[in-house]
Amino acid sequence: KQISIIGVPIDYGQSRRGVDMGPSAIRYAGVKERLEKLSYTVTDLGNVSIPNRHKKQEQMTSKLKNLSQVIEINESVAKKVDHEIEKGSFPLIFGGDHSLSIGTIAGIAKHYQRLGVIWYDAHGDLNTDQTSPSGNIHGMPLAATLGFGHHKLTNLYGYAPKVKTEHVVIIGARDLDPGEKDFIRKHNIKVFTMHEIDRLGMPQVIEETIAYLKERTDGVHLSLDLDGLDPTEAPGVGTPVIGGLTYRESHLAMEMLAEAELITSAEFVEVNPILDEKNKTATLAVGLIGSLFGETLK
Ligand code: ARG
Ligand code: MN
Ligand code: MN
Ligand code: MN
Repeated sequence: KQISIIGVPIDYGQSRRGVDMGPSAIRYAGVKERLEKLSYTVTDLGNVSIPNRHKKQEQMTSKLKNLSQVIEINESVAKKVDHEIEKGSFPLIFGGDHSLSIGTIAGIAKHYQRLGVIWYDAHGDLNTDQTSPSGNIHGMPLAATLGFGHHKLTNLYGYAPKVKTEHVVIIGARDLDPGEKDFIRKHNIKVFTMHEIDRLGMPQVIEETIAYLKERTDGVHLSLDLDGLDPTEAPGVGTPVIGGLTYRESHLAMEMLAEAELITSAEFVEVNPILDEKNKTATLAVGLIGSLFGETLK
């Protein structure tokens, strides 16, 4: 089986520097070797190129920070991911801030009738230009993917929406803005907040997620924001939120997804090595990737 690694060192979707080094940190933590040990053929395609900060001034277009750079980068992300799927390879993307999902999912969704998405995150990333409290586009990629928000984000790569609201499952949410809560209620999005995870336990949450997506989708993209985990285990993230998923819960989730053979593409985002402790968060990401690709089954 073929895996294509694509790094997206984008930091234009939020306001803290350092997340552009995420892809390097994950590579440094040994991801390629880890996957090769599981007898995958792994090709590292390197990083998508990022326009310089000083080339174009940071700009605010209708409340969206760095809109033109985010668009430009995500167009090339979409193209690259699209091409790898066409070749029959499994796209494995490293970030970079979460705005890169607009591009990855744009490249992936054209290959499926009904793409499902698991959004493993402390946040909903369901803001639009109307509801965003920050103007940071990394708080908007799931909304954009579902067809809501600024038209340049929703129509990226020439079509919209990429995914239907009933094909998404959010896991780990604990910091939702008022506009995001309205969105979830209005569109009846399936969400396992920390409250449900505490009550049901991760095994039931993942079993329900798998059953839900298996019966209505023909492929599932895993979008894992490292801030879904608790900051004590994943300190190297830009927007940490207390009370998150543990190391053990997260490994179990990855193992159960591996067993179900559900996931057809994946990304690990928001790793910020500057805020990290001795590359702990990237190392954690690599461990989770090992479990997602069946380490414990082999
Ligand atoms: N909800 C906040 C915002 O819209 C935070 C988003 C954090 N997103 C992330 N991908 N870490 O600004
Ligand atoms: Mn194609
Ligand atoms: Mn997040
Ligand atoms: Mn996120």
